[in-house]
Amino acid sequence: AEAYPKVKRNSNFKVLDSADLKYFQSILSEDEIIESQSSEELASFNQDWMKKYRGQSNLILLPKSTDKVSKILKYCNDNKLAVVPQGGNTDLVGASVPVFDEIILSLRNMNKVRGFDPVSGTFKCDAGVIMRDAHQFLRDNDHIFPLDLPSRNNCQVGGVVSTNAGGLNFLRYGSLHGNVLGLEVVLPNGEIISNIDALRKDNTGYDLKQLFIGAEGTIGVITGVSIVAAAKPKALNAVFIGINNFDTVQKLFVKAKGELSEILSAFEFMDRGSIECTIEYLKGLPFPLKNQHDFYVLIETSGSNKKHDDEKLNSFLSSAIDSKLVSEGMMAKDKADYDRIWTWRKSVATACNSYGGMYKYDMSLQLKDLYSVCDAVTKRLDEAGLIGDEPKPVFKSVGYGHVGDGNIHLNIAVREFTKQIENLLEPFVYEYIASKKGSISAEHGVGFHKKGHLHYSRSDIEIRFMKDIKHHYDPNGILNPYKYI
Ligand code: MLT
Ligand code: ZN
Repeated sequence: AEAYPKVKRNSNFKVLDSADLKYFQSILSEDEIIESQSSEELASFNQDWMKKYRGQSNLILLPKSTDKVSKILKYCNDNKLAVVPQGGNTDLVGASVPVFDEIILSLRNMNKVRGFDPVSGTFKCDAGVIMRDAHQFLRDNDHIFPLDLPSRNNCQVGGVVSTNAGGLNFLRYGSLHGNVLGLEVVLPNGEIISNIDALRKDNTGYDLKQLFIGAEGTIGVITGVSIVAAAKPKALNAVFIGINNFDTVQKLFVKAKGELSEILSAFEFMDRGSIECTIEYLKGLPFPLKNQHDFYVLIETSGSNKKHDDEKLNSFLSSAIDSKLVSEGMMAKDKADYDRIWTWRKSVATACNSYGGMYKYDMSLQLKDLYSVCDAVTKRLDEAGLIGDEPKPVFKSVGYGHVGDGNIHLNIAVREFTKQIENLLEPFVYEYIASKKGSISAEHGVGFHKKGHLHYSRSDIEIRFMKDIKHHYDPNGILNPYKYI
């Protein structure tokens, strides 16, 4: 079986012509349109971050207002022109790039903060605000954006909401399904549906905004977001820990929840291979520990009183060392140490991608099973003689992720993409996850990569309802076609 779905261009979609272009030129200014066969910029919109998926769009529209998005979508719907909405294009499942010649609708030019209420913590912004800028704005106002990701310098607020990204502090601040208060969304027919002024509580019937969170732009385009920002923690700390096995990682997690309780804000893990890849990639950056271990854990605390938090963290760490849960640990002394510790975690994906490319899986499992999928895949690749020094095609197969959320990322760092590797990985990985009743996408979404695989995690009736919803909102199927739905 083919690992990745083969698809044909849908002939119901119109091929863009000069009349269409004229229309777009009549409603948009010059800096809201990019169209040229050769420009490098065009290529950057067509290709995903992993350089694994590449579309052939010749037209990028970058409207500056919700009204313009509405006009564009109405025209595309009336004329059956297919559209891919795009935020920062940092997604990992081929959801944000075209498959064929779909028009790319970039939210990049919608980048204004709309308002902030320091009393309730409600933050409102355009969809195209870069997450880093949302963090900066809120920090200046003594708050934080309730989500952080390694791609924060490029990803956009609307994009992370569209894909329901989880991130590094999910354990503390929870899901976007809880933090998003309201959305402004343009439907394929151009209608604007907005509850962006919604208050914290609103129990008047169906919560329609939830449908757009995680829909990956398949039923509407998010143009504005209202979200609850948390108060800025006055004290931040982090420790980097070496551990012998995954059982101990789980024991330490239970201990951290019990002893660090309200100040625990991240509990992340990396296996030996993740760190080996990252050491090679971050050449020269001093590693926080003296020895190599089978597992590493990064624990972050965020609270309001540095002395109190440090005392708690110190006594947690020394009792963990005394009870042999921890082989070695390093606690940040200052902000520079704290940032360095996080660099080791945040660089794993980029490191794995730097040897040629990577196959990437993002899964939810019960904690007791969380690491087993990585062992099973590594064994399978090893038995086929595919992992090791050159000329073997696989450099390493590594696991890391969010222990607190039961979410593992499995990266197979390869020197080249081959059908043999693909066929060993899929459907094996999905069947394994289904056998453990896990989810084939914990936080990265489904996109093009997992098209046709929803049934491993969703029942027939759930998939039927999803298709009904898609058809209801987007009867012509113009929004983000060829993807999971
Ligand atoms: C992360 O947790 O670092 C992100 O989900 C990206 C990745 O999978 O590496
Ligand atoms: Zn993640």
